[in-house]
Amino acid sequence: MKLARRVEALPPYLFAEISKKIAAKRAEGVDIVTFGIGDPDLPTPKNILDALHKAADEPVNHRYPESEGLPELRKAITDWYERRFGVSFDPEKEALPLIGSKEGIAHIALCFIDPGDVALVPDPGYPVYEIGTMFAGGETYKVDCTRESGWLPDLEAIPADVVAKARVLWLNYPNNPTGAVAELDFFERAVAWAKKNDVAILHDNPYCDVAYDGYRPVSIFQVPGARDVAVEFNSWSKIYNMTGWRIGMVVGNATMVDALMRVKSNIDSGIPQAIQRMAIEAVYGPQDSIQEHNAIYQRRRDRIVEVLRKVGLEVDTPKASLYVWAKLPEGVTSADYAARLIDATGVVVTPGRGYGTNGEGYIRLSVTTPDDRLEEGMRRLEAWAG
Ligand SMILES: Cc1ncc(COP(=O)(O)O)c(C=O)c1O
Repeated sequence: MKLARRVEALPPYLFAEISKKIAAKRAEGVDIVTFGIGDPDLPTPKNILDALHKAADEPVNHRYPESEGLPELRKAITDWYERRFGVSFDPEKEALPLIGSKEGIAHIALCFIDPGDVALVPDPGYPVYEIGTMFAGGETYKVDCTRESGWLPDLEAIPADVVAKARVLWLNYPNNPTGAVAELDFFERAVAWAKKNDVAILHDNPYCDVAYDGYRPVSIFQVPGARDVAVEFNSWSKIYNMTGWRIGMVVGNATMVDALMRVKSNIDSGIPQAIQRMAIEAVYGPQDSIQEHNAIYQRRRDRIVEVLRKVGLEVDTPKASLYVWAKLPEGVTSADYAARLIDATGVVVTPGRGYGTNGEGYIRLSVTTPDDRLEEGMRRLEAWAG
């Protein structure tokens, strides 16, 4: 049997490798404490689960859903954007639900990238931007983001011949893995740059409501004219603790949203309707859980930052996202540090190198570890680092 080149070319998915290592350690009887994946440990709020239970009993929800989602869900998405960011969209043309935002992020490359075309992808960044590009037969150009520039790309530094071939620019703030945030002036510059160079912007914003100390992340659509060139991916995963239910969304430029709808309608058959009903309830039901969860994450963030600094790592306290991003001492590679840590203590952190070359020398810790396990992990880390 011969596998396609695109499969042969796949790097091992970062979390799959970590999962394998964890499984091997567990099989040896090691008690693992993981700060790996950003997957909320707290349950989906009850009102949202109640909506699922009710919808599951209705036979209309047992049948194929429509690819474009329930009209009520598209309306809920646009109502949410209006409420959260003060921007309005046409629910018929400018909003589309996704089977988790990861699905849409991977598939949108098929809408823009032909063989030889270039996608501009941040380094470090969420790995799916590059993989989707590769599946579509395109080339990725890594745009450097570093601590010195607040993990923001310098768009003017991208060579002109690369820009000429570029079709899309990926952005993601609040950022995974760095926890960096971007303000409206950055998005204004990015929109102006995209218009000038005829490049579409794909902004990935799933952490917009995971923020601390009263900070309020922005949407690219708060920039006038952004919808001429951009879409924004978003998700119920992290906002409403719904990673397991797989539901996200994309909003923005009608031509871009329609292109993704056309691709998807040939690949999937939409989101189970009972889950769409959960998302509608999430939007219109009580919102208190967002602040409650953020207060818990903030307390955990503070504890992790405190311990990491104590053991000699450099950390910029993140204002948003589920992640603490820490700089290792010079000369220590992230994979080596993570491997030595898990072997010595059973504590799992994510090596920054998995997010790109600029992630080398950093590790990422998620704040979604339950409090008692977090304390245990921090105790072991402190004892190990001595
Ligand atoms: C930057 C970023 N984008 C997208 C996703 C995918 O989220 P989901 O598919 O659960 O909506 C994640 C998940 O961790 C992420 O970190």
